[in-house]
Order: sequence, then structure tokens, then C-alpha cells
Amino acid sequence: MRIVNHPILTFPEQEMVTFTLNGQNIEGVAGQPIAAALYAADIKVLHHSHKHHRPRGLFCAIGNCSSCLMTVDGIPNVRVCVEPLRAGMTVETQEGKGKIV
Ligand code: FES
Repeated sequence: MRIVNHPILTFPEQEMVTFTLNGQNIEGVAGQPIAAALYAADIKVLHHSHKHHRPRGLFCAIGNCSSCLMTVDGIPNVRVCVEPLRAGMTVETQEGKGKIV
């Protein structure tokens, strides 16, 4: 799901790291947003709405809404669209957990 060849753009060599989503190992590019790594792994539902439990994915992708809140390394309500990926991170969905801050 990741663009590696482009007719105009070139991409520098990137460090791949491993992190977990709900205990499942996933690879991503260090320093890119966690959400980018999840989308590259074809994971597009990041949580569900509180009231109707509708699937939610990226909406603004700039850290201004609540569509991508997840628990990262035990910290709830992290906006994964702007949180850089580091090796060994633990990412969890937070269905019904935590308050929006
Ligand atoms: S998608 Fe809006 S804050 Fe992440």
C-alpha cells in the first residue's frame, strides 16, 4: 500500500521499524505518522464512534479532530495522524476507553 516508485518524485532510503497494534506486529517508516503506517498496512479503521459505533479513520489528518484517537504506549487519546512512529511503540484501539482531551 506504500508508494515506492514515482515518475517524478524520488524517495530517500527510509528506516523501517516494527511496532504493535493490539498485539499484532506491523512495520512502518520511522518518523512518519503512525496513521501512515497503519494505512500502509491496509488498516483504515482507527476507532469507532462512541454513540453509534461507526467506524472512524483519518478525517483531517492534521491533528485537529478526534477521528484518529488511539492509545500509544499507554497514553490514551493520542492523535496518530501527527504522532511520529518509533520502533517498539505499542498502539491500541481505545473503544470506549478514555475521555477526549
Ligand atoms: S485525523 Fe483528525 S486529528 Fe487525526
